[in-house]
Amino acid sequence: MPKFLIAGNWKMNLNLRQARDLLARLAEGLRALGDFADRADVAVCPPAIYLFPTAKAIEGTPVQMGAQNAYFEASGAFTGELSVAMIKETGARYVILGHSERRHTIGRGEDDWMINRKVLATIAGGLTPILCIGETMAQRQAGQTWEVLSFQLAADLSSVKLAQPENLIIAYEPVWAIGTGQNATPQQAQEAHAHIRSELSRLFASQAAEIRILYGGSVKADNAEAIMAQPDVNGALVGGASLSADSFLGILRGALAVRR
Ligand code: PGA
Repeated sequence: MPKFLIAGNWKMNLNLRQARDLLARLAEGLRALGDFADRADVAVCPPAIYLFPTAKAIEGTPVQMGAQNAYFEASGAFTGELSVAMIKETGARYVILGHSERRHTIGRGEDDWMINRKVLATIAGGLTPILCIGETMAQRQAGQTWEVLSFQLAADLSSVKLAQPENLIIAYEPVWAIGTGQNATPQQAQEAHAHIRSELSRLFASQAAEIRILYGGSVKADNAEAIMAQPDVNGALVGGASLSADSFLGILRGALAVRR
């Protein structure tokens, strides 16, 4: 079974002082948890402008770092974008890609073609994508959940080859559960994760068993343990509850309770 990953997606929140404060509290809380390194990875994904200060603040702690986006071109006239190599220079190891806010909310939205370019560029650049997929409420109600997940995986992972299964992470994030307080039930999460795992088997054969599939969407300290206890759930991508050290640590404790 792959190690859990509990990753915080700060989105466009916190100022620099608040970010440093949160990281200090997190480091303190993690020290109190003792040694969990063989059972779980912990990461934060700050706004890109805070990647360097975050890298400094997490030195000597078990906290890892990810970015919330990257562009697929290596360099050039792409005003406002950041390349994978630039993100790698900060010390980040993960890049969130295909988040539903980027697919559905920001501008005209990113399509699967662009997400696929980004996944390929991220892996080629030596970072690990956390590829977010998930259905909207309308799609779920229309009975299209499996079809949507299968399509997104096939399109976003087109031509992807993995040297190691650790080089790819999927986050199942039902759009209706993000930031709504309405999390998927543990059973709904497990069903979706099992479907994702079987699609990954078609793409990556036996590597699929070792690819981490995170659940995201209103994960909180009080629902984390039940969701993390599902056999195909390998961690969480946490938005709102990652902005407080107490609630983020509570989620990590939920995961550690599953694997003592
Ligand atoms: P949430 O966000 O935990 O606030 O629902 C999750 C995410 O968007 O990754």
